[in-house]
Amino acid sequence: MELRDAVVVITGASSGFGELAAVRFARAGARVTVAARREDRLLELAERLERAGSTVLAVRCDVTERSDIDSLRDRVLDAFGRCDVLVNNAGIAGAGPVEHQDPGFLERLIRTNLLGVVLTTKAFLPTMLEAGRGHVVNVASIAGRLATPGLAVYGATKHAVVAFSEALNYELASSGILVTTVNPWLSKTEGFPQHQTPRWLLVDADRVARVIVDVVRKDIAPEISVPRWPSALQAFRVLTPPLYRWGVGVAVRRFRR
Ligand SMILES: NC(=O)c1ccc[n+]([C@@H]2O[C@H](COP(=O)([O-])OP(=O)(O)OC[C@H]3O[C@@H](n4cnc5c(N)ncnc54)[C@H](OP(=O)(O)O)[C@@H]3O)[C@@H](O)[C@H]2O)c1
Repeated sequence: MELRDAVVVITGASSGFGELAAVRFARAGARVTVAARREDRLLELAERLERAGSTVLAVRCDVTERSDIDSLRDRVLDAFGRCDVLVNNAGIAGAGPVEHQDPGFLERLIRTNLLGVVLTTKAFLPTMLEAGRGHVVNVASIAGRLATPGLAVYGATKHAVVAFSEALNYELASSGILVTTVNPWLSKTEGFPQHQTPRWLLVDADRVARVIVDVVRKDIAPEISVPRWPSALQAFRVLTPPLYRWGVGVAVRRFRR
């Protein structure tokens, strides 16, 4: 897709991948709507990008609230008349053994990471269908491809996002709309501080943002990992399940010691 003048909406744009992707889309000449709950952060980002000559709309939106999602869509359509690209990036972390996790928190995790993606996509789909073009980019995770101990519910939301995205990409095959899942590896951001992960194992957050922009620019679908090498772990899991499960068991026992 040509990004100059494209209308791009990004949820979870007040920090991390979303903020960095907003900067990259704006630099490429897109008109960007940044959405999240922390309005002060969005206004500061919008001001910064506008000073550099970009057109930016900042909208406070909690993706767990349907009324917020609807008003995000209405504000975008009022301002720009269409939406070419929707990046469903808003998400929260949820590490820990399920037995110790609060049920209220687990509900919020699912509402944010899964329902937020589904309902925001649903809200913007009619305008994309009417235009006969568009690209939905859903930021899932490698945890959406590998069942990881300590990430049972978080991983379940991300597995669901991967399945939702791929199925929707097939559903929309003849509509001119692409749906892509971007699956980042571990990266240090505000909500994911990665205190226990060695630095060499982390992927740079701006590299993830670059891939989010690239899948739109190059029409890539339905899925991409950042970096690419964890895709090999997926193949390992599918082709040799007993060996994969043995490896996870060894890793878990080491971690517990
Ligand atoms: N960092 C990693 O290691 C990693 C790896 C794989 C996948 N991911 C995924 O990448 C995405 C972005 O995460 P990040 O690493 O960039 O973390 P981050 O810096 O904490 O960004 C998360 C963003 O989501 C927004 N958000 C959270 N709850 C929201 C809600 N209810 N409504 C609207 N916005 C909400 C936050 O803004 P407000 O608080 O202002 O609402 C923030 O802008 C998430 O979906 C995450 O699951 C992260």
